[in-house]
Amino acid sequence: MTSTVTLSVRRSTEDASGAMQDFTVPFAEGMSVLDALIWIRAHADPTLAVRYSCINANACKECSVMVDGEVTYACTARLTTKGAKVEPLIGKPVIRDLVTDILPTKERLSAVLGAQR
Ligand code: FES
Repeated sequence: MTSTVTLSVRRSTEDASGAMQDFTVPFAEGMSVLDALIWIRAHADPTLAVRYSCINANACKECSVMVDGEVTYACTARLTTKGAKVEPLIGKPVIRDLVTDILPTKERLSAVLGAQR
């Protein structure tokens, strides 16, 4: 018998902080929150937006999210049998669901100024 956990994920848009949505995910000891999010995209809801690149090398820093109220990397945060509440970073513009604009302000400014030239 496979055990499951509940991942509660905030579904937001650029314009509005959305409601939490619960997903039941198969649980395996040692799995990361990112593993669960990838499972959700593959098996339950392909529209869930989450960003990652290196998966678990902790090198890209693109998977930054809030897990149970703490800023962390989804790929290194271990899931427990209690499940987890996953939300986008606080203080960053939300693009969709768990994806936020994580570019430093200086780089965003350069992109805008570069587009105007
Ligand atoms: S996916 Fe690269 S640091 Fe998490």
